[in-house]
Amino acid sequence: MESASRIRTAVIPAAGQGTRMLPATKAVPKELLPILEQPALQLVIDEAVGAGVDHIVIVTSASKPAIEGYFVRTPEVEEALERQGRHALADRLRRYGDDITVSFVHQDEPRGLGHAVGCARSTVGDEPFFVMLPDELMEDSSLLLALADLARDGAAVALKRVPTNEVSRYGVVNPVGDSHVGAHGEVIGFDRVVEKPIATEAPSDLVIIGRYALTPDIFPILDALAPAATGEIQLSDALTIAARAKALIGLVSSIGRRDIGNPVGWLEAVVDAGLAHAEYGEDFEAWLRERLAR
Ligand code: G1P
Repeated sequence: MESASRIRTAVIPAAGQGTRMLPATKAVPKELLPILEQPALQLVIDEAVGAGVDHIVIVTSASKPAIEGYFVRTPEVEEALERQGRHALADRLRRYGDDITVSFVHQDEPRGLGHAVGCARSTVGDEPFFVMLPDELMEDSSLLLALADLARDGAAVALKRVPTNEVSRYGVVNPVGDSHVGAHGEVIGFDRVVEKPIATEAPSDLVIIGRYALTPDIFPILDALAPAATGEIQLSDALTIAARAKALIGLVSSIGRRDIGNPVGWLEAVVDAGLAHAEYGEDFEAWLRERLAR
């Protein structure tokens, strides 16, 4: 069993319009699209709670009221789950509002990830916090726990090595100094994050994946940033400043991860969840094998 970290707050930016998943996202926020019967957002929150988080701050938009609706306590839903014998799930839903606080902050203009994180400032307060991008699902809470452990004297971001043809989808770091392999994997220093470079200009093959353990020191940095050429306040620009002040390190992670912000990644996550399902995983696998042999 994983033990809780000292970070108790997680900020989940969820104000984006989900254009890669249109037209479904005309009516359903991408964060609520189901992975089997569970909204993706629920899985991200489970990951946070598994790392000891008890305050979830969702940065959403007034145009996505369904996100707030998901957290309204509905005793009849809990009772229906109990009748179906799904006690653990009923218990999980009951926790919101009791031992887990869910706060909502609105970002009503699409001004970038840095701006979204900045919107959470007064709700987060003067505490370290995770940022969790809900387009990515992680296999468990271990990455958050590792980041919190590494961020004892500052902040830490999760990195992954990707093939060159994928770097332009991400923030890419420029490693500096020696790396070392610690208890959680390879830890590196860096002095720059280049947001979505073209492959030939990327400083490395190490990209930021959507989990960050930050300190409130990031807020004044975000406040002082000028918008990037796209007009957005980039979290990557604030991370560059923190990294140059030696207040930020990167952990190269090998955690199982899915990008569900696009149709194929979403489908892979659904198939994975189907295969792993305790009740019908075996039948689904048999069907899938038979289907592929056709
Ligand atoms: C964001 C960040 C980027 C990071 C990525 C991880 O980009 O800006 O630095 O590498 O998440 O998924 P987005 O995918 O929101 O465009």
